[in-house]
Amino acid sequence: MSDAAFTIAIDGPAAAGKGTISKAVAAHFGFRHLDTGLLYRAVGAQVLLGMEPLQAAQRLSADMLEGANLRSPEVAQSASRVAVIPEVRAALLDFQRSFARRAGGAVLDGRDIGTVICPDAEAKIFVTASADVRARRRFDELVAAGAAISFEQVLADVLERDARDRDRAEAPLKPAADAVTIDTSTLDIEEAVAAAIKAIEARRA
Ligand code: DC
Repeated sequence: MSDAAFTIAIDGPAAAGKGTISKAVAAHFGFRHLDTGLLYRAVGAQVLLGMEPLQAAQRLSADMLEGANLRSPEVAQSASRVAVIPEVRAALLDFQRSFARRAGGAVLDGRDIGTVICPDAEAKIFVTASADVRARRRFDELVAAGAAISFEQVLADVLERDARDRDRAEAPLKPAADAVTIDTSTLDIEEAVAAAIKAIEARRA
């Protein structure tokens, strides 16, 4: 099969392990990778600086995807808030779809890749884990990066974002009907990546 049309959609809630799995899967298959959460984070970061959400989405440029603070909890919350706005989602749609269509295979990770952005993706994975495990992982990452934050704050943050991402009317977080779900609660990184590669290989056969 030609990889020109092979798209892998990886969706799931915050800190489930999508990013790590997506990078490893992209490296394994030699595909390009787009972390679509970064697009919403870049818009969210501009909104925190005072820009209108739609204007920020329409003016999104490559250098805005490299801001040092894009991984902060404040930016994550702002990203989740702007992601509720249908016009913001629409403004980011073409970029994501053209990334998926460019020559060579592609891995896109986010919340609505398998349901809205690439409903025809050849392989779809929904990565999940318990809220406690996800908050613990995010907490460890933030502490390692030098953030002064409590586990309870991180858990509350994750739960708030989950609820907003799941309950929004437009492109809510949910598994596509044909997605393979991988629960990473009790898996280490190698096991989670192996499970994803196995599920994708089954679709490439
Ligand atoms: O994946 P992430 O945690 O970096 O995403 C940040 C926020 O962006 C997330 O809470 C919701 C939004 N998002 C979205 O609505 N759709 C996507 N495809 C990716 C992210």
